[in-house]
Amino acid sequence: MTPASHTPTGPRVIVALDFASADAALAMARRLDPSSCRVKVGKELFATGGPLLVTRLRAMGFDVFVDLKFHDIPNTVAAACRAAAADGAWMLDVHASGGRRMMEAAREALEPFRQRPLLVAVTVLTSMEAADLAEVGVGDDPEAQVLRLARLARDSGMDGVVCSPREARLLREHCGPGFVLVTPGVRPPQTAADDQARIATPADAIAAGAHYLVVGRPITQAADPVAALAAINQQTGLQR
Ligand code: C5P
Repeated sequence: MTPASHTPTGPRVIVALDFASADAALAMARRLDPSSCRVKVGKELFATGGPLLVTRLRAMGFDVFVDLKFHDIPNTVAAACRAAAADGAWMLDVHASGGRRMMEAAREALEPFRQRPLLVAVTVLTSMEAADLAEVGVGDDPEAQVLRLARLARDSGMDGVVCSPREARLLREHCGPGFVLVTPGVRPPQTAADDQARIATPADAIAAGAHYLVVGRPITQAADPVAALAAINQQTGLQR
């Protein structure tokens, strides 16, 4: 299956709404402008806020990345993707390690949607090092495994992958210009790394080929989230 070739338009920053309650997430969203960013709802927030939260964020004008990293048998993942697309997700993700048939089923499930969500795959979790991979039977180093899974994702119809900014250049080279690269681990210069180990600045991530940057705490925990977002948008050099 050939993946759709994607040209990014609109805001490149996806604000990770990592809050424990829907109210807190909505309060942050109300401070942000949908013409300046997209938003991401992860497992914790979805577990508490559910599809209604996605609907409410959409009603505020936001594109929503529903980051649930589906990984199951093909039929189950296809059904989950269909449901998330019906909720109005702008972007969805699955685990590439679920394999070709799972990814193809996910992609096929989205075909009937007039405006289908972008479908991206997680390759190797950035929390995993070589020793962790060896323990689950993968002898290759993380970079080789990331590349293998990114190619498999592309060949299975995925629009792109979630990757570390440090991997972006390699994947851009091997997977082509229209392959979506979504990078977390982005930190503006002179800000705390928090628990992120392999970070890059917004400018470096874009220069390496990232289409979209997932940024959480540097915006959501900033004294002035709006100013922090504006500064990051400016640093990408792609401000609209
Ligand atoms: O606060 P911070 O900018 O570190 O948030 C990054 C977001 O990206 C979090 O929601 C985190 O779960 C997510 N993420 C990540 N690394 C990955 C995949 C997702 O940090 N490899």
